[in-house]
This record gives sequence, structure tokens and C-alpha cells, in this order.
Amino acid sequence: MKNEYQPKEAIIKKAMKETDDINTYWISFLNKKDQEDFWFEPGQFVQVGVPKLGEAPISISSSPHIESHFEITVREAGRVTKALAKMKKGDKVFIRGPFGKGWPKPQLDDHLVLVAGGIGLPAVKPLLDDFCHGYLQVKSLQTFYGTTHFDKLVCMRYFDLWRKETEVHITLDNQDPRWKADVGLITELIKKAKIYKDSKVFIIGPPVMYKFVIAEFLKKGVPEKNIFMSLERKMSCGVGVCQHCACGDKYTCKDGPVFRYDRVKDIPDII
Ligand SMILES: Cc1cc2nc3c(=O)[nH]c(=O)nc-3n(C[C@H](O)[C@H](O)[C@H](O)COP(=O)(O)OP(=O)(O)OC[C@H]3O[C@@H](n4cnc5c(N)ncnc54)[C@H](O)[C@@H]3O)c2cc1C
Ligand code: FES
Repeated sequence: MKNEYQPKEAIIKKAMKETDDINTYWISFLNKKDQEDFWFEPGQFVQVGVPKLGEAPISISSSPHIESHFEITVREAGRVTKALAKMKKGDKVFIRGPFGKGWPKPQLDDHLVLVAGGIGLPAVKPLLDDFCHGYLQVKSLQTFYGTTHFDKLVCMRYFDLWRKETEVHITLDNQDPRWKADVGLITELIKKAKIYKDSKVFIIGPPVMYKFVIAEFLKKGVPEKNIFMSLERKMSCGVGVCQHCACGDKYTCKDGPVFRYDRVKDIPDII
């Protein structure tokens, strides 16, 4: 039987700086079979373990169709993530998962809208990557990504490809001479954009963003049942046992992290 508490040894194949406090890692399992068997849905997360320090839940930021490794993008927050920030190619980490329910599988006739704030972008990146490489087929794909400053932009090396293949709106809250695209809150971009009423909307970002972004889509006529949001809570077990991540009667690790808005909107403080 599969033991979900048993971490698997993995190696950092590549470590890349995204910003002063955010890094991307390419990771592959030491055991070849573990790597071959590793399959996940976009929006799922892994528990990344550092010996003697603990584990941190981190979204997988690469396409499941990459066989040689998977990617994570991590911001330094506390013990585990600060230790990860010091790691380099060849260092060992411990992985459990994938866990949770990811984004609902997009269908051929979907108008899909991705909305990401800050460090949320990596959690929708598998969908963008799959769309650009022909693994994801939908009627249309629109992406809105916003962050505070130029120096906080992540995944910049993909912007040209995404802009060429899809409709991507990227905005900074603050002006910068190096930035030639939109400036202003992400909600302003959504207000200005043409959004299909039957769009499916996937949202991830800082807690403050959800209410305002959801309100814009509701104003555009998108039904509540078409809005999905990925939520962050402090986690421990990752498998629905310890209750650390409870939101009302739901566990973020097991019932989420992606929730359909209309099914959870009445849970106090959910967003
Ligand atoms: C499903 C899921 C996916 C995530 N994906 C990513 C990702 O792709 N990239 C990324 O950088 N981060 C992600 N996070 C957040 C990440 O898990 C936390 O930053 C990390 O657990 C902090 O661990 P630490 O040991 O470094 O910090 P700790 O030493 O545990 O804590 C440092 C500080 O951060 C707070 N904190 C810890 N965890 C969280 C949390 N989940 N939400 C809010 N505050 C918290 C603590 O209360 C404390 O104040 C995700 C979280 C969840 C639940
Ligand atoms: S992290 Fe233990 S129940 Fe969710």
C-alpha cells in the first residue's frame, strides 16, 4: 500500500534565481521509477522536506508532460523555504505527494481565464505551458498576472512565448522605467478586457486579491459556479488527517487547494 507519509529522496537538478527572495528549482527523484511514476494535475502541490527543519507545501510549476523532472518556485518565508533558498544543484530534498485537488480539467469548448497575483503565477504556469505546447486545447485562453514591482516579476523568461501564443496581460502596481506594459491593479485590467460570460476563471494570489477579482468577474456576468480559486492555509500532514488546514468543514490539503467559489463562499473568512 502507498504510504503518503513516506518522503522520497530527490535531487535539485537546477536552481534559478527569479527575484531577490524567490527561486525556481528543477527537481527529480533519485529513484528512476519514482520519477517515471510521478504524475500530477496542474494546481496540485508537493510537500518539500528539508531534514531537521520540516516540510513546506509548494505548488508544482511545470507541465506534467515533462518526464525528466518537475519544477517548483519558492519564496523565502520561514525555516524550510529559507533553507531551500541556500540550496544549489546537487543538493538533496525530500518530497511527498502530489497532494490535493488541482484545477478542474479544462474542456475543448472552454473559454479559460487565469488570474494570478504575485507568487501565485507558478501554480497556473503548467496550464500556460501545456497550452503553448499543444497539450491543452480550449476555445480561448486569457491570462492576467499582476505583481507589485518590476523586481518581483517571476517567470519572465516565458513572457515572450506566452504573449506570442496567448492573450496575456501583465501589470505592475508601481511604475518602473524598465517596464513597458500595463501599470495598475489587476482588477483594472480585468475591467477593461472582453470576458466571455461563460468563461471558466481560475484565481490564485495574495488573500487581499480574491474578493475584488471575483467581484469583477461577477459584474462581467460570469456565474459563481465557473469561478475556481486556489487557497493557502498552514499545513502539516497534507493528507486530511491533522486538521491544520481546516476551512469550515473542508481541508485545504485534501478537498482543495482549488475550490469552486459557490461551494465555499459562505464559509467564514474563506477569502
Ligand atoms: C497548497 C499550497 C501551495 C503553496 N505553493 C507555494 C508556492 O508555489 N511557492 C511558495 O513560495 N509558497 C507556496 N506556498 C506557501 C508556502 O507553503 C509557505 O510559505 C511555507 O510553508 C512556509 O514554510 P517555512 O517553513 O519556510 O516557514 P515557517 O517557518 O513555517 O513560517 C514562516 C511564516 O510564514 C507563515 N506561513 C507558513 N505557511 C503559511 C501559509 N501557507 N500561508 C500563510 N502563511 C504561512 C508562518 O505563520 C510564519 O509567520 C503554498 C502553500 C500552500 C498551502
Ligand atoms: S494539512 Fe493536515 S489535514 Fe490538511
